[in-house]
Amino acid sequence: MKALTLEKYGLPKNVLGLTEQKKPTYQKNELLVKVHSTAINDYDWSLVRGKPLIYRLMFGLSKPKSKSLGMELSGTVEEVGSDITEFNIGDEVYGDTSAYGFGTFAEYISLPAKALVPKPRAMSFEDAAALPHAALLALQGLKRVGGIKNGMKVLINGAGGGVGTIALQLAKVYHCEVTGVDRQDKFKALFNLGYDYLINYKQENFTKNGIQYDLILDCKTDKSPFSYSRSLKANGVYVSIGGKINYLISTLVIGKTLSLFSNKRFEILTLKPNQELKEIANMYEKKQVKPVIDGPYPLSFGPEKLQEFGNGNHLGKIILSVGN
Ligand SMILES: NC(=O)c1ccc[n+]([C@@H]2O[C@H](COP(=O)([O-])OP(=O)(O)OC[C@H]3O[C@@H](n4cnc5c(N)ncnc54)[C@H](OP(=O)(O)O)[C@@H]3O)[C@@H](O)[C@H]2O)c1
Repeated sequence: MKALTLEKYGLPKNVLGLTEQKKPTYQKNELLVKVHSTAINDYDWSLVRGKPLIYRLMFGLSKPKSKSLGMELSGTVEEVGSDITEFNIGDEVYGDTSAYGFGTFAEYISLPAKALVPKPRAMSFEDAAALPHAALLALQGLKRVGGIKNGMKVLINGAGGGVGTIALQLAKVYHCEVTGVDRQDKFKALFNLGYDYLINYKQENFTKNGIQYDLILDCKTDKSPFSYSRSLKANGVYVSIGGKINYLISTLVIGKTLSLFSNKRFEILTLKPNQELKEIANMYEKKQVKPVIDGPYPLSFGPEKLQEFGNGNHLGKIILSVGN
């Protein structure tokens, strides 16, 4: 089978390429899935370069222990392990495989059945590959951790990425007023998507403009909790879903301490993969949520598209088509 693989860390164009690999075998508790579509994520960008360095502690110090990238897919069940009763050959499935490893940038992957859920018929393979990771980061960040309520004033930092573009749509289900923070060149598309206000992070620090929010969802934490505190109303909540390691640590330590001594809350989301995909599927079927897709592109475009992801040149989710 064809797969995008890497032997060493580096820039995608130097280390990532389409190679011929053995079709995976599968265990009694696993499904063999023919991948139709997959999506590029922050994990892939970090893994290919081995940066930030903390990744190397998990994935190999001098070279990656695994050759595979990709942790989000939609596809069709090709074989079913003998212990599995909930799936049949031919079922359409999708999911975030990050809890079970990488390898969706390939024509086939074998996975435990619990790594995947049935794909609704009405959902395209491309949308199904775009939703699991970003939509659940957005949903769990806004709802489970952030406690979003009707009519709140919400700020989304990283407004134009995979998470931001879905988070906006979820916040609109709650009739919230939503401000997005991202780069100026994405503003036209982001206004069209429904943001009420936009701030260009290259020119303005939103924590210094005196405006306060009930809920901040941050995909790119790069400031101290004291800064974010200025932008929170009384009883406001700041939820980080990712960002620079040092600021994530200070959100954890200083933010938690501030939470104890003020009426503002500082949280870091730990994603629970695939848990509320039914809720997302229901919203998708009601046309409340639709992923913003960049692509689809053939799998062979993976190195180039991964570089574009790293450069921030994408809007929403970059989708690679793996099947014919
Ligand atoms: N909590 C968890 O369990 C968990 C699990 C997996 C992943 N994550 C995290 O979730 C996040 C995924 O976000 P995503 O998929 O939406 O990323 P993305 O698609 O890369 O989008 C990020 C957006 O933010 C913009 N941006 C970059 N720097 C910014 C800044 N300083 N201020 C405001 N906007 C900025 C980018 O624009 P430009 O770059 O073009 O300027 C881009 O439009 C990552 O931080 C990842 O590490 C968390």
